[in-house]
Amino acid sequence: MSKITVLTGLQWGDEGKGKMIDLLSPKYDIVVRYQGGANAGHTIVFNNKKYILHLIPSGIFTKNIKCVIGNGTVVDLEALIDEIEILKHEGINLNNRVFLSKDAHIILSYHKIIDSINESKEDKLGTTKRGIGPCYIDKYARTGIKVQDLSHPEKVSKIIEKNLEVLKNSFRNSEEIHSLKIEVILDKLFTNYELIKHLVIDTQDYLYKSYKKGKRILMEGAQGTLLDIDFGTYPFVTSSHPISGGACIGSGLPPTFVDDVVGIFKAYTTRVGEGPFVTELIDETGQYILKKGNEYGATTGRPRRCGWLDLVALKYSCSINGVTSMIMTKTDVLNDFDKINVCIKYDINGKKTDRFITDSELLKITKPVYKQLNGWKYDISKCSKKKDLPKNLIKYISFIENYTGVKIKFISSGPSREQFIKM
Ligand code: IMP
Repeated sequence: MSKITVLTGLQWGDEGKGKMIDLLSPKYDIVVRYQGGANAGHTIVFNNKKYILHLIPSGIFTKNIKCVIGNGTVVDLEALIDEIEILKHEGINLNNRVFLSKDAHIILSYHKIIDSINESKEDKLGTTKRGIGPCYIDKYARTGIKVQDLSHPEKVSKIIEKNLEVLKNSFRNSEEIHSLKIEVILDKLFTNYELIKHLVIDTQDYLYKSYKKGKRILMEGAQGTLLDIDFGTYPFVTSSHPISGGACIGSGLPPTFVDDVVGIFKAYTTRVGEGPFVTELIDETGQYILKKGNEYGATTGRPRRCGWLDLVALKYSCSINGVTSMIMTKTDVLNDFDKINVCIKYDINGKKTDRFITDSELLKITKPVYKQLNGWKYDISKCSKKKDLPKNLIKYISFIENYTGVKIKFISSGPSREQFIKM
């Protein structure tokens, strides 16, 4: 049993990471979220009830496991407090189980307002409007506020005052920005801080010492590889590093400690928000997958764009993440198809390649080259063993494994905790 595992999404997010983290958690002592913020919506079905977690790691439903919100995240304190309240209300014991890094950055009301203003423009990115990008901008511009800064109210007040001045000059026509009052922001911020102060620790030190004591750690990525700020379809990406490399930056655990990287993908592809999507199906088939897969954003409720599995992108994601094994989710959504397409090459102006490209302009004009496989036409939702699976599904799995060079170790066959099959 390895000590540190990174679980990362191989597509544009929404691969079913929540369910899989929940499922794998009992084998670990600590689960760590290493990037992103409340833009994520990790869905877990626990005791027949559906929960959507935005910030607290999806291991929280496993008894005694510790949950760490790492330094690489951007934290909306209100969202965190709401989530804590919901979990407490459901009887989940959170005592001494949730920790927040002193080095994580704080999302303030103006980050969310800027995100919404940018999204009202014609060239919008389709963000979740949770203030993620603007908060990371402040982080990298060195004008942000870290959790540990909250123990220095005067420093925080000065930073916010300066930021508001800059914002009011930049957004001259925004009433919302101009009505922002520093006293209100500070009052809310410090009231919220009082409520979560006890969760704040030096998570790098905690994780390092835990590892040295032999604790097993699961790193939970949010979003997905194709939304990575460097390796995704820029500018239609999120502002952090969902890839496995981001797990080290976002937690402080060194790369030499990581034992394996589990990549998770859907048996087809979805994307929310704007941006190129080579295998998108803007037809009845796409609509069918949307409905059958209940493909609506867990955070925003937006319908997701649906398409066939893109193996060119999947192989690229496997290489960037150094994936050692894969999990395929939502396999049951494809149960009824006679034929299933998988994209094996890109056709860019007549030139074929099996190498993924991140140039959004080129991706827009790229056509998929498909290999058609036979569907399995069988309800797998009740299967619990590999030997029960239909032959054509085994062939589908083998095709993906051969193309990517990575083994699939689990497939999920339905939304509940129990519906997965070990391969
Ligand atoms: P942001 O992360 O809110 O800035 O949004 C940037 C892009 O990432 C948009 O296309 C969002 O739809 C997408 N995105 C952000 N979080 C998620 C997620 O958890 N699942 C899927 N897409 C996401």
